[in-house]
Amino acid sequence: MVAFTILAGGYGVFVATYLFNSSDSTLSLLSKSPTGPNPSWITTHLMNRSLLYAVNEISQGALQTFEVSPGGALSHPIDTTSSGGDSPAFAVTLSTGKVAVMNYESGNGRIVQTTESGLYFDQEEVTPIVTFPRLDGGASHPHMAFEHGDEILVPDLGGDTIWRLSKSGSIQGFIPQPKGSGPRHIAIYGQHLFTLHELSSTLTVQLIPPAPNGTSPIISSVSVIPSIQPPNASYAAAEILIPTPTKDFPVPYIYVSNRNVGFQDARGDSITIFEHVNVDTPEEGLVLVKEVFTGLSQIRGMQFGEVRRGEAFLVAGGVAGDAGIVVLKRGDQGRDLEIVARNREVPTRTTFVWL
Ligand SMILES: *[C@@H]1O[C@H](CO)[C@@H](O)[C@H](O)[C@H]1NC(C)=O
Ligand SMILES: *[C@@H]1O[C@H](CO)[C@@H](O)[C@H](O)[C@H]1NC(C)=O
Ligand SMILES: *[C@@H]1O[C@H](CO)[C@@H](O)[C@H](O)[C@H]1NC(C)=O
Repeated sequence: MVAFTILAGGYGVFVATYLFNSSDSTLSLLSKSPTGPNPSWITTHLMNRSLLYAVNEISQGALQTFEVSPGGALSHPIDTTSSGGDSPAFAVTLSTGKVAVMNYESGNGRIVQTTESGLYFDQEEVTPIVTFPRLDGGASHPHMAFEHGDEILVPDLGGDTIWRLSKSGSIQGFIPQPKGSGPRHIAIYGQHLFTLHELSSTLTVQLIPPAPNGTSPIISSVSVIPSIQPPNASYAAAEILIPTPTKDFPVPYIYVSNRNVGFQDARGDSITIFEHVNVDTPEEGLVLVKEVFTGLSQIRGMQFGEVRRGEAFLVAGGVAGDAGIVVLKRGDQGRDLEIVARNREVPTRTTFVWL
């Protein structure tokens, strides 16, 4: 038996722990651990999976630490610090041991120093708040922080840009994005930057421009909206993942989640698979490989299992409806996905961690 423990945060006051057994494809709810309000994004410490960080996505936003027991239940919150703003919807640990947290509503974020191997926030060092300038009058809505080399990239959905920060959090420059596109989440593979735009529901690819303020043309831009849409559907793309290639899954396919925030049909949201083809040739582009429907409503977060352990599996959940969470299995070397397990005991979830 190969069993995987999965943590799932969401709106509410708990993180749910599930056990996925890949031999008989069962997915069971093990526990619900109390947290502060709205742990809508959770992430483990880079070097220590027994250490979990969760945002409190509320107007007085916060960040909390937890210890994860071997069975996957969380301790009480060990430490809590302010996120420095309104509605933090994303947090990630950096190679420096600091934690980056981004406040969607107030257009700012913090790179928080930790102590004691990450279990506590350093209350001595007052971390400056990074405030993103308003571009062209649009309100800033930073949605993610992505460490790459010696930079932190922050897609800003309101500013139609991707900010380039130093590791300590000072703004060095930015990568402009198409007007009105609403860049939400990004992924990097090799020298290419892949951006998922929420407002235009598009996926784009471009070379990472030279730091700090270079530009590069968009090589390809494709719609991620399902080819057949229910009446009165309205799309707002959410998550993009490019799992590290392995022997079983050698091609770096791009997996994108759609959110139909309008009228939903029985098929639910799709996860769409793309391939980056003819790289570095005049025919370079993004091509649609497959649309896979999940029965979920508004997939905000999804996550692949760990490389060389659970890499065949993807967990996803919706923030609306009552379809719970699903585990999908990659087939055809990653060109396909098939739902292998579902659990509806907690109706909505937004963020996942595989232990
Ligand atoms: C990981 O974190 C847990 C919880 O704080 C701690 O007990 C454990 O010693 C840490 N492990 C390592 C290798 O630092
Ligand atoms: C990058 O552009 C921003 C905005 O124009 C500017 O404030 C900043 O000084 C530039 N950075 C560099 C290193 O040129
Ligand atoms: C779509 O929206 C229109 C305008 O609000 C409404 O009249 C119509 O009934 C809707 N159709 C469906 C299938 O929900």
